[in-house]
Amino acid sequence: MSETRLKIALTKGRVEQQVLPLLEQAGVDCDLIRHKERRLIFEAPTQPYEFILAKGPDVTTFLERGAADIGIVGSDILVEHRSTQYELLDLGVGKCQFILASTADFDPAAPKRKIIGTKYPLITKRYFDRLGQDVEIIKIEGSVELAPLTGLADAIVDITETGTTLRENQLQIYDYLQPVSTRLVVNRLALKQHQSAIYELVDRLAAVVQTDAEKEIMQ
Ligand code: PRP
Repeated sequence: MSETRLKIALTKGRVEQQVLPLLEQAGVDCDLIRHKERRLIFEAPTQPYEFILAKGPDVTTFLERGAADIGIVGSDILVEHRSTQYELLDLGVGKCQFILASTADFDPAAPKRKIIGTKYPLITKRYFDRLGQDVEIIKIEGSVELAPLTGLADAIVDITETGTTLRENQLQIYDYLQPVSTRLVVNRLALKQHQSAIYELVDRLAAVVQTDAEKEIMQ
């Protein structure tokens, strides 16, 4: 019988940078990914894994369509894209927060209908629905912070990790919506077909995550 080769869709960029050390500690050789230049698909040289590097929303699409068995992606993307895939592990990295932010003169209690810029219209709508506020939502693809600075929107709903982008653009946080972290999710059919291979990797990663969490507590 041929060896199971798991296809793992990994979100490129920040998630990739934070997850590679975890994969390496779990014994996965990530050398090729680290020196990838413009390549997008990588086989782990001595292990039965193939990595696909993609943007977060596309990771959920690969998984939903069965083009990947495992996805590594932020919970922000999973919630926004109503992912129905099975979440097996919180990797404890990529920790950030959804926030409502704007310039210093923004008044969240003002009675006028607000215009909100965001990459996350669903999460934004749910938040303002909970507050009982009807808002206009403008979908923005990147550098969301520009919206209140240019008058495109009254405020933004976005994620913040270090707070640097908000600080450097003189924006303030007005509310915290929900925390975000990087999750390992699986395609349900793949889990049935490759159960032992998937759990073997997940168990190794879970042990690394646990050790890292313990180290964090001790610091
Ligand atoms: C995210 C987010 C903020 C920034 C916050 O954008 O939308 O712009 O990170 O991070 P910080 O709190 O550490 O400064 P990302 O870098 O993913 O790119 P984008 O602006 O192109 O969406």
